[in-house]
Amino acid sequence: MFRDFAHVWTPLVPVRSLAAGPVGVRLAGEPVVVFLDREGQPGALIDRCPHRGVKLSLGRVTPEGCLECPFHGWRFGVDGANRGVPLNPRARLETLGATPLPARRIGDFVWVYTAAGAEAPGEPSVPPTLTDPGLARIIVERTWNCHWTRAMENMLDSPHLPFVHRNTIGRFVSRYMKPDSEMEVHWEDTDFGGVTHALLDGRDGGGRLDFHRPNMMTLHIPIPRMSLKIHALVVPIDESHTRLFVVGARSFLKWKALDPMFEANAAKIADEDRDVVESSFPPEVPHPSEEHSVGSDRATLAFRRYFLEVLKGSAAG
Ligand code: FES
Ligand SMILES: [Fe+2]
Repeated sequence: MFRDFAHVWTPLVPVRSLAAGPVGVRLAGEPVVVFLDREGQPGALIDRCPHRGVKLSLGRVTPEGCLECPFHGWRFGVDGANRGVPLNPRARLETLGATPLPARRIGDFVWVYTAAGAEAPGEPSVPPTLTDPGLARIIVERTWNCHWTRAMENMLDSPHLPFVHRNTIGRFVSRYMKPDSEMEVHWEDTDFGGVTHALLDGRDGGGRLDFHRPNMMTLHIPIPRMSLKIHALVVPIDESHTRLFVVGARSFLKWKALDPMFEANAAKIADEDRDVVESSFPPEVPHPSEEHSVGSDRATLAFRRYFLEVLKGSAAG
């Protein structure tokens, strides 16, 4: 289950999309349904009713806060426990539960742990700017036709900025780049993943990228006395589809009425990446020996090593 993405915490569904009822998604190939109970606590279950295999996400959340299967009305709590089997008062509910995943509501997202029916060994490591109450946040959602590892590497890749994002976030590089320029990419391992920054001809523009294992990036944009962060949450759907959440967080111009402007900007940058990422072959990042790499690939190679060694559990890492 959860091929090459097992036993990790990941953000999965924005809380705002659960207001209308349960949401069914695929996560690393597995169908998962997410819902909120009456107190707003999240539940995440394998999206398959234990009775006849129907998608629970086609059902509804009852006034008591249970997820009700659309077929025969079995009801499940956020822990997957069976809370009722209509027309069968003698059913042994304790044997008729759905399969839960550990779930938490943190900031603007429901997070799940990718192990069915298990306890999570710890809590998610969340980039602090995803929860800081002093920041205004926007979320832009996209689905890309690619393996998540190509999208994740793209988010950690500084040398593509002056090409793909020539006139947007890359203009600070493209403006100073000369034909013989050199980009020096630094990478430092941290407890949450790693930090990378790039120097152009020895000049540090002050930008920084954090990699939060397993699938998140925070871009720190240097603006004096203000905080502007762009996060990319790269969630695997299946072998050839990825859900991308771009979360912008800002300490200035915090009026809600300005959100559409920040959303449009985040969407523009994400959409600039799409074609190159979707065109990458093979779809999943291969062993480094199967592609040619250079000095400025340091950060993406660090991610690739993590993916191959830890998530894929391959000696090839
Ligand atoms: S299939 Fe879900 S209650 Fe029968
Ligand atoms: Fe990009």
